[in-house]
Parts: sequence; structure tokens; C-alpha cells
Amino acid sequence: MDLKKHRSIAIDGPSGAGKSTLARRLARELEFRYVDTGAIYRTMALAALRAGVDPSDGAAVADLLPGLRISLDYGGDGLQRMYLNGEDVTEAIRRNEVSAGASKAAAIPAVRAFLLDTQRNLAEEHDVIMDGRDIGTVVLPDADVKIFLTASPEARAERRWRELLERGQSADRAQILKEVIERDARDSGRASAPLKQAEDAVLADTTDLDFEGSFRLLLDIIRERLGGKAE
Ligand code: DC
Repeated sequence: MDLKKHRSIAIDGPSGAGKSTLARRLARELEFRYVDTGAIYRTMALAALRAGVDPSDGAAVADLLPGLRISLDYGGDGLQRMYLNGEDVTEAIRRNEVSAGASKAAAIPAVRAFLLDTQRNLAEEHDVIMDGRDIGTVVLPDADVKIFLTASPEARAERRWRELLERGQSADRAQILKEVIERDARDSGRASAPLKQAEDAVLADTTDLDFEGSFRLLLDIIRERLGGKAE
């Protein structure tokens, strides 16, 4: 028997595959709430960096957890804002050093356990389209639709590079590719909830697709899987 009150769409994949931009647009189209779980891990990493703690130091990061308040809300625009101990850190978590720290902190089992309920509660309260690395495998194993979104490392590095430039941050393309490859290895190689395609996820490769093409592809997959429930 299906006791779920709300519908859920899980989008997992490596960084730079276009998950967040696509999920945000899909959420608007379908009138679902977009939940960016990477932002939650980024907030965790920012907390560690601000405390002078190495985000890969499991014991030191675990010690910080009881004193942390990580929360989020959604404004009238439907956009997710992140708070660390009450301070709005939505912009601060987008910096490049926080990206590397998030992938390190995300490998710590205590961090993953600490953030699990926050993510699951969001899916109990709303129809959600949630993106991350382990949404279809761990966070929402009963999601109505699961998509594994990927693209080649080169295509993803190129997108990340453009994104940073658009935000006015200087960026070295070769360095970004190196970081993308390192992050992939860390996210896929960790013991705790590694990035991997759920058995029942649909694979979507956007290497050769532009935004509009990727959006159409995902919308078709979702509409087909949700059936009449998508309307
Ligand atoms: O999607 P993102 O780049 O904002 O995510 C930042 C880091 O957080 C990424 O390197 C992996 C980690 N992460 C995770 O382990 N599990 C998730 N559900 C989401 C993100």
C-alpha cells in the first residue's frame, strides 16, 4: 500500500551535470518544490571552514554537529535559502573552496546521518524534486521517479567554468576540470552513500544536449513515469 501523501522526483548525478538548473526549471513547470541537497552539505562545510576545522577530519567535524543549526526556507519566489545558526549563507556557500569542502564533509557518515531527516522531512511536506548524489538510493528510495543525470567530465567542467565567470569569480578551466575529476572520485569512491545510479533510475546523458534539450528529455521521462499524476 502506498502511504505517501506527496510525489517525489529524485535526480542524482555528478557535479556540473546540470541537476540544479534543470531541477529548478522542472519544479516550476510541474509545480513541485525544488530541494537542493548539495546546498545543505555546503552549509555543513562552511560551518567547518569557519570553525577552522578541516572538512575531511571526521572526528573534528562530528564534534561540531551538536552545536550546529542548519535550516532552510522557501520565499515567495520558491527559491531555497540556507541558514547557518540563523545567518543567511545562501551566497556564501557557492564559493569554490566550499565546493571542495562539501565533498569532503559529505564523506563523513556522521554528517550524512545528521542531515538525513532534514531531507526526508521536506519530502513529507511537499511534492518535491530533489537533487543530490544519494537521493534515489538512500534518502528517498521510494521516489516516484528516479533520474541519474550525467555528462562527460569535460562538458561538466566547461559548464562550471562558465557559471563561475558569470558570477564574476575568476576561474582556471584546467584547474576546474582537475577539481571535477577529483570530486567525482571522492563522491563515487566514498564508503558512505556513494554516488551511484539506483537500479530503478533512468540514465540521462546531457553531454551533447543544450539546456532546452536536456529539459525536454527530463520532462518526458518524468511525465511518462508519473503518468496522470503529473498533471
Ligand atoms: O551538488 P553540489 O555540488 O552543490 O554538492 C556539493 C557536495 O555535496 C558534492 O561534492 C557532494 C555532496 N553531496 C552529497 O554527498 N550528497 C548529496 N545528496 C548532495 C551533495
